[in-house]
Amino acid sequence: MKVLFVCLGNICRSPLAEGIFNHKIREKGLENEFSADSCGTADYHIGDPPDPRTVRNARKNGIELRHACRQFSAHDFTNFDLIIPMDHNNKAQILSFETAAGSSNKVRMMREFDTKDKGAAVPDPYYGGEKQFQEVFDILNRSIDGLLDDLTGATT
Ligand code: 4NP
Repeated sequence: MKVLFVCLGNICRSPLAEGIFNHKIREKGLENEFSADSCGTADYHIGDPPDPRTVRNARKNGIELRHACRQFSAHDFTNFDLIIPMDHNNKAQILSFETAAGSSNKVRMMREFDTKDKGAAVPDPYYGGEKQFQEVFDILNRSIDGLLDDLTGATT
């Protein structure tokens, strides 16, 4: 099962989601069953590492990030089983690339899996401070627990 997290710039929200997901699957010993990647709908930061504020916040929360920014492409519909946008603009951009009929059913919003504000957007922290970066971490941490419960069939 290959999961792709998508945001706008691929330097704040989605590389953090990828890092948290990969950390949790390693903790659970599920590396052979799941893998995650991330990308952005925009081309502003292609090749760049995650934003230093995201890297710092992730490290504070015990997660090391390793990612080079890339842009979403139509091939991602073939290469991934599940595509998870952070907000409604990301989702609309992804769906505008849809080539194979029916592949839009691979697209699920990140906060469909949250226990709070289900279905809301993961807010963009780019113009915020540490408070906003920590808020994004907490949202992603909860949502990814929910996603993993969903994928593994757990009932808790
Ligand atoms: P992200 O945040 O989509 O969570 O990676 C952003 C990063 C960069 C920009 C906007 C949002 N930007 O405008 O460069």
